[in-house]
Amino acid sequence: MTPIANDTLLRALLREPTDYTPLWLMRQAGRYLPEYNATRARAGSFLGLAQNPDYATEVTLQPLDRYALDAAILFSDILTVPDAMGLGLSFAAGEGPRFARPLRTEADVAALRAPDLDRLRYVFDAVAQIRRALVRDGSQRVPLIGFSGSPWTLACYMIEGSGSDDWRQAKTMMYARPDLMHRVLEINAQAVAAYLNAQVAAGAQAVMLFDSWGGALADGAFQTFSLAYSRRVIEQLVREHEGRRVPVILFTKGGGPWLDAMADSGADALGVDWTVNLGAARARVGDRVALQGNLDPSVLFAPPERIAEQARSVLDSFGPIAPGQAAGHVFNLGHGISQFTPPEHVDALVEAVHAHSRTLRR
Ligand code: CP3
Repeated sequence: MTPIANDTLLRALLREPTDYTPLWLMRQAGRYLPEYNATRARAGSFLGLAQNPDYATEVTLQPLDRYALDAAILFSDILTVPDAMGLGLSFAAGEGPRFARPLRTEADVAALRAPDLDRLRYVFDAVAQIRRALVRDGSQRVPLIGFSGSPWTLACYMIEGSGSDDWRQAKTMMYARPDLMHRVLEINAQAVAAYLNAQVAAGAQAVMLFDSWGGALADGAFQTFSLAYSRRVIEQLVREHEGRRVPVILFTKGGGPWLDAMADSGADALGVDWTVNLGAARARVGDRVALQGNLDPSVLFAPPERIAEQARSVLDSFGPIAPGQAAGHVFNLGHGISQFTPPEHVDALVEAVHAHSRTLRR
């Protein structure tokens, strides 16, 4: 088996000691990078990029060639799963995602099935190809993270048919016909578990559930319609592969009020957005889970000195780490990196996180 040259990410997710705090960035391969835009132009479209394993491999590696990041994340999208269910995904230029056949009626929901995983073969092929491309001088540079949308976040797009400010259609179904919503979530949970297990079988070494819209839910509704189904996914996941534990990260944007319940979801780590104080979150979750986050992505618009200062403040907020003791912090942004981020500003962030986190362990 090929060793991993830098497995700091996996150790931090499993709350094992590390010499520094590892970091990666949500949406680290994306439009802020000129090389990404060049590959996307060659591919013709975002979906052309995501559905071609050669292109997906190329763009996955682009941020690693520029920055000393501690993980690769599969280049794909959460909406590939509903697309494989037959909902008809497209991305109009300059707009967000759209489904041609959203779930609106009882008959739409009755006809919904978990997808044939063969329709997502291009994703698993990309995972296997990225793993091979990560090997340099006989060892794998950094671990590869796989991902999926949470059952709830996928349901939001599947019912609404696009992004939304208020998720009116999705929430109408949830309150008016909770039976239909539960059926969608049940199917999504089966689909997501099978999809993530297939990514692990193909070579993903950690997996992340993106619950981007869990924070749009009321207290009570979050536990019933989001967390319960994320837990159901996590229960079904293969947790060991190639002789290593496969950590699971659960990220609910806006999930700060529910960290205590999320810490009992079965996940190894919780992603948190910038509204959360990491030290307070650490005290809440104790030794149950590691934490991932949580710099405001807008900090990256400021000059490099301000970025370094804000990065140090996020690291300091996590609190002291005794040398050789488990820390359980993975540095990340609180949400995806903006397309308007100057690429050279990311250098300042990576440098500051690595340098300052080493000083915290002395
Ligand atoms: O993190 C990574 O680098 C891996 C790639 C990745 C993408 N999407 C690529 C992408 C990941 C992990 C996602 C997850 C995703 N996709 C989420 C959850 C995370 C979050 O942001 O809350 C959601 C909600 C989606 C759905 C989605 N995909 C939207 C709403 C959009 C349009 C908005 C936008 O930023 O343009 C996408 C498109 C998308 N997915 C792009 C990328 C790089 C931009 C498309 C392009 O290149 O034109």
